[in-house]
Amino acid sequence: MKIRVFEDAEDLGRAVANRIANQVKKNPGAVLGLATGGTPLATYAELRRMHAAGVIDFSLVITFNLDEFAGIDASHPGSFRRYMELKLFDSVNLDPRRIHFLNGAATDLDAECVRYEEAIASTGGIDLQLLGIGANGHIGFNEPDDTLAARTHRVRLHDQTRRDNAALFGGNPSQVPREALSMGMGTILKSRAVVLMATGARKARCIELAVNGPITTRLPASFLQLHRDVELYLDRGAASQLTRRR
Ligand code: F6R
Repeated sequence: MKIRVFEDAEDLGRAVANRIANQVKKNPGAVLGLATGGTPLATYAELRRMHAAGVIDFSLVITFNLDEFAGIDASHPGSFRRYMELKLFDSVNLDPRRIHFLNGAATDLDAECVRYEEAIASTGGIDLQLLGIGANGHIGFNEPDDTLAARTHRVRLHDQTRRDNAALFGGNPSQVPREALSMGMGTILKSRAVVLMATGARKARCIELAVNGPITTRLPASFLQLHRDVELYLDRGAASQLTRRR
C-alpha cells in the first residue's frame, strides 16, 4: 500500500482530484468507481473546479458508484444518486449514458445486483476505484461480519452505519433504509487501482488495522492488503495511529 499523508482534508481532496485527472488524461475513456459520503466532498469540489477551468474532460469517462440505498428511488433526496448529481454529475460533462448506478427501487433487487456486476464486466472493468472507509472498517456497504460477499449484493445496514448516514434523511437514523445494495469485496478488488481516502482521528484506528492488522472479515478494508495497487490518501488525524507504513 502506498500511503500519502496530507495536512488537511482540502489538500487531500486536491491530491485525489489530481490523481483522477491524470488517470483521465492518460485514458479519456477511463472507468471510474465512485464513492459518496463526507470524505470525497473536497475531491468532487476540486473536480468541478478543474472541469470549469477546462483542465478535465469527462465526455468519455464511464462511472460506476459503489452503492445505493434500497427502497428509495434515484430522485429521493437521501439517495446516493442525488448526492452524485449535486456534487459532481450536474456540474461536469459526463455523458448520462456512461453513468452507472445501482437502482435501489428495482422490483427484483437480486437481479439488479447481477445486472450491475455484468455492466461493470462489459466495460472491461474498473480502472480506478475511489473508496472512503467507515469507522468500523467497512468499504462500500461491506459491513464487518463473519463472511463477506464477493459480488454486488444486498446488505442489511448496521445501526452505526444508519446513524452515520442520518444527515441525508433529515437527521433521523430511523428514516435511513435498513437495506442497501453494494459492490462486493471481489468487485472492488478486481479494480485495476484503488484509492482509499480517510480524514479525521475517528478513522485512525481502522486505518492502522487495515494497513498493519490481520486480514479479517471483521474489518473489510483489511482485504485491500491483497491488492497490488492501493494508494491511501490520509490526513494527519487518520494517519495518527499508523505504526508502520508499508
Ligand atoms: C459511500 C460508501 C461508504 C463511505 C464510508 C465513509 O459510497 O461506500 O463506505 O465511504 O461510510 O463515509 P464518510 O466519508 O462520510 O466518512
